[in-house]
This record gives sequence, C-alpha cells and structure tokens, in this order.
Amino acid sequence: MVNKKSNMYQNWLSHREIKKSCYKEYINNILVLNHSEIIDSAVNELKNAFDKIEDVKEIQNICEDEKEIIGDKFIKLYIEQNDKLINEGYEITYSKTDDKKECISICANDDNGILYGVFALLRLFEQNYDFKSKEIIDNPKKNIRIINHWDNIDGTVERGFAGSSVLFESCRNKDIMSEVMNAIGGIAATNEGLRKAFNDEYTVASDLERINDYARMLSSIGINGIIINNTNVHKEETYLIDDKISIVKIISEIMGRWGVKTYLSINFASPITLGDLQTADPLDSDVIKWWKKKAEYVYSVIPNLGGFMVKADSEGRPGPFTYGRNHADGANMLASAISPYGGILIWRCFVYNCRQDWRDHTIDRAKAAFDCFEPLDGQFLDNVFLQIKNGPMDFQVREPIAPLLGTMDKTNKLMELQITQEYTGQQKHVCFLVPWWKDILSTPTYANNIDNNVEQRINGIAAIVNVGNDENWTGHFLAQANLYGYGRLAWDSNISSEQIVAEWIKLTLGNNPLVMKNVSEILMNSWETYEKYTSPLGIGWMVSPGHHYGPDVDGYEFSPWGTYHRSDNKGIGIDRTLESGTGYAGEYNEPLKSLYNNLETCPDELLLFFHHVSYNHILKSGKTVIQHIYDTHFEGFEAVKEFISKWEELEGEVDKGIYEQTLERLKIQFDSARDWRDQINTYFYRMSGIEDKKGRRIY
Ligand code: GCU
Repeated sequence: MVNKKSNMYQNWLSHREIKKSCYKEYINNILVLNHSEIIDSAVNELKNAFDKIEDVKEIQNICEDEKEIIGDKFIKLYIEQNDKLINEGYEITYSKTDDKKECISICANDDNGILYGVFALLRLFEQNYDFKSKEIIDNPKKNIRIINHWDNIDGTVERGFAGSSVLFESCRNKDIMSEVMNAIGGIAATNEGLRKAFNDEYTVASDLERINDYARMLSSIGINGIIINNTNVHKEETYLIDDKISIVKIISEIMGRWGVKTYLSINFASPITLGDLQTADPLDSDVIKWWKKKAEYVYSVIPNLGGFMVKADSEGRPGPFTYGRNHADGANMLASAISPYGGILIWRCFVYNCRQDWRDHTIDRAKAAFDCFEPLDGQFLDNVFLQIKNGPMDFQVREPIAPLLGTMDKTNKLMELQITQEYTGQQKHVCFLVPWWKDILSTPTYANNIDNNVEQRINGIAAIVNVGNDENWTGHFLAQANLYGYGRLAWDSNISSEQIVAEWIKLTLGNNPLVMKNVSEILMNSWETYEKYTSPLGIGWMVSPGHHYGPDVDGYEFSPWGTYHRSDNKGIGIDRTLESGTGYAGEYNEPLKSLYNNLETCPDELLLFFHHVSYNHILKSGKTVIQHIYDTHFEGFEAVKEFISKWEELEGEVDKGIYEQTLERLKIQFDSARDWRDQINTYFYRMSGIEDKKGRRIY
C-alpha cells in the first residue's frame, strides 16, 4: 500500500525545509483579497506549509481584511491588473505597512498567477531567498505547458515505468496492475493480448486523493495542461467522448482546481468506431456534422476542456490519408468543431512509414515529418498546434533538432519531449534529462536567416510524463528530478540545470551539503554517462526491439521500422548527405545544412547520424571512431560505479527507504551498463577487427 506520508510520496512538496526558513512567521497570517477555487488551492498550500512548522502552535490566521492581521508579518494575495505581468505571471514584493507590519505580497492578473506565485514563494522561503533586495516579476515564457499521458483506460501505461496509471483503472486491483506494469516495463499497452486480459470494467482511478496530489505536483511547477489518455487511442478509449465521458469530467474537475486544463487524445476514426458512420473522411459533410455535434456534447459536459489531440496515419492509427486527404484537411475539420468553445487541436507530426524495407537506402524515416507537413505551412487554422518531437527520429539519447522546428512560420508549433525514459534507461537507470533539453531549446535554427533558437520558434511545450502508481511516483526516485525540471524549464528555459538540481535536492532531500554535492554530481553527469555506454556518436537505437530496454546492436537492423546503423567490417553510420545520401541534411536552414552535410564540420556527437565513415575516421577529438567507441564505453561504465560510491556515502544522510530503493536501481543500472559496454565493444571489435589501443578486455 502507498504510504502518503512517506518522503518518497511527498516529493518536492514536503515543505521539509520550511521550519528552518527565516520567513516562517509570515505563514501565520494570510490576507486573501480574492476568492476562487484555484485561489483556495493556493491558500491550502500555505496551510500545508504551516502544518510543517512544528514549533508554531497557533492556528493560522486567514483573513480578508488587513485589520485582522495578528502579529507583525503577513502574506497578502491579490489580483490586480498589472502591466508588468502577462497571464499566469506573478509579482512578489516585500513592503512595510503604515503601522510597520512586514508584508510579502503576491499579485497576479489571474487565479493561476496567484497559485504559481504561492508555490514560488514557498520554494523561495525554503531556500531563504532575500525578498527585501528586489521584487520578483516572473512571467511564463510559453503559455502552453502540457504533460501527455500515454495511459490507457484499463490502467496500463504505454512506455510507463512507474507502475499503473494514476488516472484510470479497470475493476482489477490496481496493485496487481502496477506489478504487471513493472514486470513488463510498459509494453502491455502496446500488446493487444495483454490489454484484453484486463479488458473488463473501466473507471477513473479510485484513489482520487492521489489524482489531486498529482495535480498539485503539476501545478507547483507551472504545468497548465494535461492530455489524460494515450496518443494511441484504442477502441475503449474512443468512448471517452461518449458514454465514458464521466471519467474525463471527474479528472478535469480535480485538475481544474489546480489550474491544469484537461485535454483528450481522440481517435480520428471515432465516427466509425462509435458505430455512427461508414467513413471518417474529413471533407465528408456527415463527418463534419458528426464532429460538430460531438464537440457540442463534450463541451456541454466539460466546458473548460482544453481541446483534443490526434495521432493520425502513424503506427497503425487511422487518419486522413485513407481518404486521399492531407493532414491540414484532417486537423482543420476537428479544429473548427471545437473552436466555438475555445478548444485547441493538437496534431502530432510523428508520421512516418513503419513498414520500410531495410534493404532500401533511399527511404529515410528522419525525413518523414518534414516531407509530410512542411508543404502545408499556412493551411492550418489558428487553433491548430502541430506537436513536433524534439528530434526527427524518436527520443534517442542524442538527435539533431527536428528540421520542422526551423520552418513553418505560419503554423503554431509545440515541441514534444519525453520525460518517461523509454530510450534512456526506463527509470532503472538514472538519466537526468534537463541538460539535454536545455541543449535542444537553445539550438539555433537559423529560420529566416536569423540565429533564432528552438525555444523562440515554438508556441508551447509538451512532454510525455514519467508518472505512475509507484509510491515514489516515478519508479526511480531520482527520476522525480526530470519531472520537476521539465516544469521549471517549460516555464522559463533560462534557468540553469545546476539551479534546477539544487532546488530539487534542497526541497526533496533537504539542505545537507554532502547530499547536495553527491546527488548533484550524479544527476549532472548522468545523461552524458548514459550516452557514453549506449549507442555511439548520434547513431541511436541498438536497443532490444519492442520493449526498448538494454542492448541489442542488430535488434532493429533488419526490421521495417526505419532505424538502422548500417555497420559493416569497414565502417558505420547513415549517409544523410545531399550528395551521396538520403538528402536529409538539406532540410535544415543554412548554415546548419552545410554544418551537418559536411564531414569536416559535422559535430562529433552527431557524426554517425549524418555520415557513414570508416572505423579509422579521425574525430575532432583526435580519436578514431573505433577508439572513441571503446573509450566511451569503458568510461561510461566506470562512471556508473562512481555513482554507486557517491550514493553509498549518503547512507544515513537521506531517508532510509529512498536510500535503499535508489541503491537497488543503481545496481540494476550497473549490470545493464556492463552489458551495454561489453556488447557494443565486442560487436564493433568483431566487425572491425581493430584492437583497443589500451588493451582492455573485449570479448
Ligand atoms: C514511440 C513509442 C510508441 C509511441 C510513439 C508515439 O514509437 O515507442 O510507444 O506510441 O513513439 O510517439 O506516438
């Protein structure tokens, strides 16, 4: 059973440091000038924090009039049109009243702003921030900051590595479901047979308090939207816009209290699946009418629904191609149906041929999204947002940015990241992804000949979440830092990785110098370490097919999925150049196009993504490709050993449960990193016949 009081469960919201804060007395008095459900949540959060101050025995004074303040310090929450703020932003100011009372006030233009201001205030209280020096004005850089759940209505989670769904369950016991999910590592959802085994009666998850706690977590890091169901909408989930809509309503009401809007993934073929029509052709007048009526119904039940998301014509999902229509036809038809209610339509760009012939070197999965969408620029309605994965393939540990991010100026774009660690160790390995995401966001795109970066090119940000029913939410306790970091970055991508790590450790594990030092060293080096012992130099994949955990160099080499490394006894890499390759490099703006296309200028870390080279090719680092492979694989494994010793130094310094569970995961990572090291090194040693210069053991 989940222990809701445990430090694992309480995550970064335990307010554990509040009792040490020099500001704790302020929390005794709260002056609230406006009221709403969301502001009530903000006040409740201040109550939560108050309860953690053990040495304060009084009852917290929550009042609506300054005259009722007891003592000489208070917090004031109020809404006022403030030119320095945009929607959801907040201002925190320190001041003294005429009668010498000290006040820290949070002002915002709207309810969400107050809520985010309160979470920020508590975070800063716990870090003893100096409020007297300067007021804080904090506006979100993006107004769409969403989380995608790949949760199915039966309680399984596609690519979920932290137990069963926090949102849905079947009448089967969710603890059993969690066990199954953890045993099979998130693939149940992709396996029809297993899904059917759980196919009985579906409901909203019975632990509504947990959904509320989850909504609070999201809100505390500024997330304002949640797509509650899997992008792959199977038959049963199609009924979420039909007779299962009450599930959505319950979730959306809980989320709404925390300023988080609910969105639904929908099935493009719903008119057929729900048995009403023979076609889902987006230009057919009956289909258009059907969706208008459906939207009217859905919004009559859930007036504040954020909108719909669609994955179409991809990996077996239905879409407009069936009817000879394009993706603008499909998206616009749905967008018009929901636009009277203020809904937005999120349309995914993860569209490619997954039945490719591996023998054919001219087809390139990396080119697919660009080829499909770029010609449609300017044709999408204003309430359509294209959701584009950060790279052209599929969330590998390293990829170049998706070329679509540097084009389509007349189209709204969201960038999609993956917090759930499908290809980055499945929450068995520690892999803190914030440095990678920062790298992506700051990559220049050179759209319109200016070096504007990815962050400046997008209207919002989305990510597939890593949360499930495990007591610690994320399977690996340290994976909580990825969720925390995602929210903080989505709000303001200028925050450094170091700051995010420091905040997360202080709030979650406490302000202990040794814990701060060791955990931050582990987290800050973990993404690079994972990259070192897995597939080299940007080539990606080499994972076991299906579940995507652990090494299998040729696992996808002769498959239809378009994911190859093309190694032979002479060399490795995909030729994506304009002259001799697939021409993919040509999808970038100059100077990126030449940078990647040219072997001499292509950055080492992406070399094999763009070029096929010999094992003796000399990298910019001065090493040959083969020596780089050997060295990084030995180094990556050694780094995991270091993680373990750093963690072991924390015995007695962190909560026992967290200590033991994390150590257990680090040991799993150790075994897996060893497997990766030896399989990759051995494979390329056998392929190339070239000895390791340092004479280390290769099998
Ligand atoms: C990957 C992942 C799938 C998922 C898909 C998507 O291919 O393995 O499980 O459905 O991405 O983004 O839609």
